[in-house]
Amino acid sequence: MAIIETRNLTYTYPGAAWPAIKDVSIKIEKGEFALITGPSGCGKTTLCRCFNGLIPHFYQGELQGEIMVAGLRVQEHPIYEMATHVGLVFQNPENQLFALSVEKDVAFGLENLGTPREEIRKRVDWALELTGIYELRERTPTELSGGQQQRVAIASVLAMQPEVIVLDEPTSFLDPLGAKKIFEVIYELNRKLGITVVLVEHRLDLTAKYADHIIIMDDGKVVLDGEPHEILNSDQARLIGVGIPKATRLYQILRTDEVKLGGKVPLSSEEMAEKIREALKHL
Ligand SMILES: Nc1ncnc2c1ncn2[C@@H]1O[C@H](COP(=O)(O)OP(=O)(O)OP(=O)(O)O)[C@@H](O)[C@H]1O
Ligand SMILES: [Mg+2]
Repeated sequence: MAIIETRNLTYTYPGAAWPAIKDVSIKIEKGEFALITGPSGCGKTTLCRCFNGLIPHFYQGELQGEIMVAGLRVQEHPIYEMATHVGLVFQNPENQLFALSVEKDVAFGLENLGTPREEIRKRVDWALELTGIYELRERTPTELSGGQQQRVAIASVLAMQPEVIVLDEPTSFLDPLGAKKIFEVIYELNRKLGITVVLVEHRLDLTAKYADHIIIMDDGKVVLDGEPHEILNSDQARLIGVGIPKATRLYQILRTDEVKLGGKVPLSSEEMAEKIREALKHL
């Protein structure tokens, strides 16, 4: 079952001369880990804003086509209602943290919904445990590191127990190690809890291996959509200038009659190392 489906979605910001996204028709299945990527300005953030109703409820402008999320037609349901189904985590965690303590921040969304105190306590503790920041619960968010702040932002979204979590370049202010840790947390949420994940990311070296589905956008349009191994090994992906994983490039260069690299194309250094070990056996 598709948990997110758009049909011929076209959106133009107020006063803009042309649409930011054009004729986007995609389906994301329940439980999937979907990756959205593409060059800067291609419309990734704009598409995410459609998933939780920021477009059209907060950003006016002109919207055509359909967006269905968790069985709801987004155009007809207010942002606060959509927020119980879709959690959005942005690039810059500072912009979403404001309370005096981590646990108050994580509780904020639930308090707004009028959730009973006991239930809030339970859910906040659960979200803090899952994201590995329980021991930071009494700290002030602004004095935490970027990686810790991003975990708080993820915990705040998780506390709402949404079916889908959408993360828009959540690690662009983190170093590769900090980024890796965040991606591991996200992957666990997907595998263990079955939460559908939509991750916008250009660092495919770090993330392609987690994805079941990849959508590549260019100039407001979806240009490639499908299974990651297939899509990332295609000539089109290389031509658009998407950051193909280094392991995938190395595989394409090495694969000859002499070097037999069988099976699926690798998307990470671990997968490439495994292939080389196999190839060595046959040389
Ligand atoms: N609030 C806004 N008002 C007007 N135009 C906007 C607004 N936000 C984005 N745009 C425009 O919409 C287009 C798509 O931008 P968007 O931010 O969705 O791209 P993106 O793929 O997320 O880029 P990046 O990789 O840099 O984050 C761009 O031309 C951008 O200038
Ligand atoms: Mg963006």
